[in-house]
Amino acid sequence: MNAFVIAVDGPAASGKGTIATRLGAVLGLPVLDTGLLYRAVGVLAQRAGLDLDDPRAVGAIAATLTAGQLEDPALRTRAAGELASRVAIHHPVRAALLDFQHAFAGRPGGAVLDGRDIGTVICPDAPAKLYVTATPEVRAERRWKQLEGQGEAASYEDVLADIRKRDARDGGRAAAPMTQAPDAQLLDTTDLTIEAAADAARRIVEAARVRWEAAKAAD
Ligand code: C5P
Repeated sequence: MNAFVIAVDGPAASGKGTIATRLGAVLGLPVLDTGLLYRAVGVLAQRAGLDLDDPRAVGAIAATLTAGQLEDPALRTRAAGELASRVAIHHPVRAALLDFQHAFAGRPGGAVLDGRDIGTVICPDAPAKLYVTATPEVRAERRWKQLEGQGEAASYEDVLADIRKRDARDGGRAAAPMTQAPDAQLLDTTDLTIEAAADAARRIVEAARVRWEAAKAAD
């Protein structure tokens, strides 16, 4: 691969979004939170009154998605996460979002993409891959605090149930299931502060960059 692409995958609230943002800032690379694409499709499909279980109708919405539609604060809610995971099971939705993600990943200077299938399906040749995880309980606590900070009240138990349901749906679907790529480095953030997790991620990526540059020089 010509550009230095960093794939950051993992389950909800594992810390992958923060890690991707920090990597982008440190390395001067643009960052795409691909979860926003699925959230936008879910929210737009619901607003249009579509049947969320209809792959073709929801896929048609995905085909019209623009970058501007990713700015909507409604995409950050708990409900949007649930809608995203429901529409993300459809092949036509995933296929319609491929070009957007490939165009982003193909930027000449490189890019960071975070999601569920970046290292496995979207950018299988990415020179740096991380799979970020943490226990469901720790992830639920993080997500619960984040929702509270956004002014969205929810009980810890409900958030934990959401996380478990989402893990099962994202990992169990036929289309691009969430899974660690064989060549991705596992980063378990259960017992790490966000600073320690971001530092560990930076070290993994720096080592990957050295290997990538050596391979390019040897070509
Ligand atoms: O990362 P985030 O929680 O915003 O993602 C919302 C949902 O979008 C996930 O639970 C998953 O179902 C879907 N998604 C996906 N593939 C990605 C990113 C997100 O299927 N690359």
